[in-house]
Amino acid sequence: MAKKLRRVALAVGVVAVAGALGYTALVEYGLHKSYPQTVQIEEGAGLKDQIKRGEYVARLSDCTACHTKEGGQPFAGGYKLDTPFGAILSSNITSDKDTGIGGWTQEQFDRAVRHGIGSHGNLYAAMPYNAYAKLTDQDLTDLWAYIRTIPAVNNKVVENQLPFPFNQRWTLAGWNLLFFKDQVFQPNAQVSPEINRGAYLVEGPGHCASCHTAKNLLGGDSSAYLQGGSLQGWYAPDLTPNPHTGLGHWSNEDIVSYLRSGANSKTASSGPMTEAVENSTQYMSDSDLHAIAQYLHSLPASQTTVPAAIDSQQNAMLVGKKVYESQCSACHVSNGSGIRNMIPTLAGNAQVNSADPSSLINVVLNGSQGPFTHANPTAAGMPAFAWKLSDSNIADAMTYIRNSWGNAATPVTEAQVKSAREGTKAQAWMGAAKE
Ligand code: HEC
Ligand code: HEC
Ligand code: HEC
Repeated sequence: MAKKLRRVALAVGVVAVAGALGYTALVEYGLHKSYPQTVQIEEGAGLKDQIKRGEYVARLSDCTACHTKEGGQPFAGGYKLDTPFGAILSSNITSDKDTGIGGWTQEQFDRAVRHGIGSHGNLYAAMPYNAYAKLTDQDLTDLWAYIRTIPAVNNKVVENQLPFPFNQRWTLAGWNLLFFKDQVFQPNAQVSPEINRGAYLVEGPGHCASCHTAKNLLGGDSSAYLQGGSLQGWYAPDLTPNPHTGLGHWSNEDIVSYLRSGANSKTASSGPMTEAVENSTQYMSDSDLHAIAQYLHSLPASQTTVPAAIDSQQNAMLVGKKVYESQCSACHVSNGSGIRNMIPTLAGNAQVNSADPSSLINVVLNGSQGPFTHANPTAAGMPAFAWKLSDSNIADAMTYIRNSWGNAATPVTEAQVKSAREGTKAQAWMGAAKE
């Protein structure tokens, strides 16, 4: 605990100093700087097409994910994002003049979406402007043409719910100084137009790095680009061509099918990725999905060392095998092969081999309903085991699947499952009361 407090204190100190330094330079500069609009909203017949293109950019960018609260009106905001420092609510971006952005100009919209300065000053990076900065002028303008058409909803949101000192927006100038690259996408002349398109989609509108890249202490991206990142009880795995923990064994079609339907012959999405598939990637065009696959395959593979598989005669492995055979093998099959296109294969599964087992534990505790997409309307479900199995049985089953059939990964401990059970507010184990 003491260690954790120190780490947080350090973060505050650095933010405050960097923030103070950057304050005059950046906030003042940002608020008064003009962002010339090189592309204008179309008039007449062209506008209809432009709005359609803008709707597609909004899909690519998944604006709905954060700006629509569950059960709330589209884009009316109020969706809560928990950060390690406290909660931030998303803004109302409907065309309501009082509580939304109905009175805004295109330049104000640009300032917020690509440059991170909203109606109250600097925006928190929970709004992924650091990715949207890469949007082209054309895409940004098309997006604005579409966003302007969203029906007005009167809904007042107080975005900033953070405690002092994190509620001080001026400190974000320091964050920007350290981590924000305010620059539109720069194509790489060395690679094909298709790979450039994929890079644009992943780095810009798709903001894949906001989950798939590990963060440093201050919430900035680490240099391990797309090599896996953890978020609120989930782990977004390595997307580089690493053969053990990444997409090294995935074909282009595997990636395309996963992003379009949330499933392929190897695995099925869950948690935050299911939301990304349902709201965003399933709407991507075939050529855009192929461009993403090409680009991910062109990345340098992460350099993780593969651990030796744990001896099958160790106690955790023996107990884990028993749990697996009695609870899991009816669906995932004794040899971990799963059932093609219905039940994920656990053997050789990159997610199962990941150093961070958070997503696996989460899925076993709470179950998972695969995504409902146009391509896959009847996804199979994984039942929840939180009520049925103890922390130690789940840990051993995890250790077993992570070290069988060619898999190799660190063991999962009882303490990890216990903390995931608390962190994800999973059901209690039915045997707990009797212990
Ligand atoms: C991952 C979550 C997330 C996504 C995705 C997201 N936003 Fe946001 N957005 C937020 C949050 C949170 C805020 C409030 C941040 C703050 O107040 O500092 C915000 C603020 C804004 C604001 C500023 C409003 C104001 O009054 O200052 C605009 C405009 C905006 N978003 C537009 C968009 C658009 C357009 C998209 C899609 C291209 C988008 N957002 C995608 C989370 C998100
Ligand atoms: C909101 C966070 C989030 C965003 C944004 C996101 N992902 Fe994911 N992604 C995840 C999580 C969490 C998982 C693990 C899901 C699981 O356990 O089934 C995942 C899994 C995946 C997988 C499966 C990997 C495997 O080995 O099973 C692929 C491929 C993937 N994401 C690609 C992408 C791409 C491409 C983008 C951007 C267009 C993206 N993701 C954006 C959170 C995210
Ligand atoms: C009734 C069939 C069924 C049973 C029993 C079952 N699973 Fe699953 N499992 C599934 C399905 C279906 C999915 C895919 C869920 C999704 O789409 O999110 C899944 C997903 C998973 C995943 C995530 C795989 C990935 O690629 O992200 C893991 C890990 C897993 N199961 C482990 C287990 C373990 C361990 C047990 C036993 C304790 C078990 N399962 C029992 C059907 C089952």
